[in-house]
Amino acid sequence: MKILVTGSAGLIGSEVCRFFHQQGSHIHGVDNNQRAVFFGPQGDTLWNRRRLSADLSRYTHHDVDIRNRDAVLQLLQLVKPDAIVHAAAQPSHDLAASMPFDDFDTNAVGTLNLLEAARQGCPESPFVYLSTNKVYGDRPNTIALQELETRWDFADPAFEHGISEDFSIDQSKHSLFGASKLAADVMVQEYGRYFGMPCCVLRGGCLTGPNHSGVELHGFLSYLVKCNLEGKEYRVYGYKGKQVRDNIHSEDVARFIWEFIKSPRVAEVYNLGGGKANSCSILEAFKIAESFSGKAQHFTYLDENRIGDHICYYSDLRKMLAHYPQWDITISLTETIRQIVESWHGRLSEVNKAL
Ligand SMILES: NC(=O)c1ccc[n+]([C@@H]2O[C@H](COP(=O)([O-])OP(=O)(O)OC[C@H]3O[C@@H](n4cnc5c(N)ncnc54)[C@H](O)[C@@H]3O)[C@@H](O)[C@H]2O)c1
Repeated sequence: MKILVTGSAGLIGSEVCRFFHQQGSHIHGVDNNQRAVFFGPQGDTLWNRRRLSADLSRYTHHDVDIRNRDAVLQLLQLVKPDAIVHAAAQPSHDLAASMPFDDFDTNAVGTLNLLEAARQGCPESPFVYLSTNKVYGDRPNTIALQELETRWDFADPAFEHGISEDFSIDQSKHSLFGASKLAADVMVQEYGRYFGMPCCVLRGGCLTGPNHSGVELHGFLSYLVKCNLEGKEYRVYGYKGKQVRDNIHSEDVARFIWEFIKSPRVAEVYNLGGGKANSCSILEAFKIAESFSGKAQHFTYLDENRIGDHICYYSDLRKMLAHYPQWDITISLTETIRQIVESWHGRLSEVNKAL
């Protein structure tokens, strides 16, 4: 199989490249290291791209900007992939307001460029889009909550398993990022429903893993661990540090994408996260990171929460499990954090050696 992966040097893209390569696929990666432009040198993903080229014999890199419509159309005509995984994005909720054009051009227009190029070049090939739970805006914050010792949780039994795909995406505050991702999310569904293309939208909770270049504005677990190891203060924004996220290892994301591509459906939507079993609050994440690093987590608490930030969110995984019963979460939250600690340990000591 020949697969085209956008955002191939990023967290999810690189994991998908590795996973599909292990299955024998030829990989065409698309990434222009825009993450370094969005987040500065801390967000640079060149290290990951170099590792892909060094480790994967069937990897071809394309330094293409997905906003460049002609280049994207040409690339899809040339490669005609058997499947497309679209993971390139401006991924930060908070950053979008400072760069509305870049955010919308990348997330919404870039996705349209790829969809239309796919329709013209390879309409039968499954198209998987990495969307986000921010498409639900801040509406999850209207669910009745209970305050526990170290976390918030849903008090309404209707959300005992978490938030499902029929939750309203309408009339709430999304952030500009949530809105640009939602535009793309609906467009992917439309290419499925209108043109019959096999495609799905994966509305991610926190997707993470050892290959994340976590920064303060994106990749909370990765960044939290980095702060822990460097003895740097982590800033907690409101909600008493009890805000809850569900976390899924990027390898389990890649495994789900593999299952979908083997047996695609049309215009499906899935909430993709670690589910309740792999959820944690920031305070709980501190404790797990400390248990692996042996270092105390330094943090400061700021009373004001991030605009539109979820107080409690975990994905209801029952639809994914019903449609793809061969798939399940295989890497627990604790193991994921252990791997992130190990990875940052190695990466930070390489940086220190180079200084
Ligand atoms: N990581 C998470 O917690 C999370 C949560 C929900 C949804 N998502 C979604 O999953 C996808 C992948 O996220 P990630 O964490 O791997 O992000 P990432 O920032 O690690 O990777 C994205 C990659 O896309 C590249 N890119 C950005 N703009 C580009 C452009 N214009 N042209 C070509 N390449 C470009 C970047 O250089 C980067 O390497 C994104 O769509 C994101 O919105 C991620």
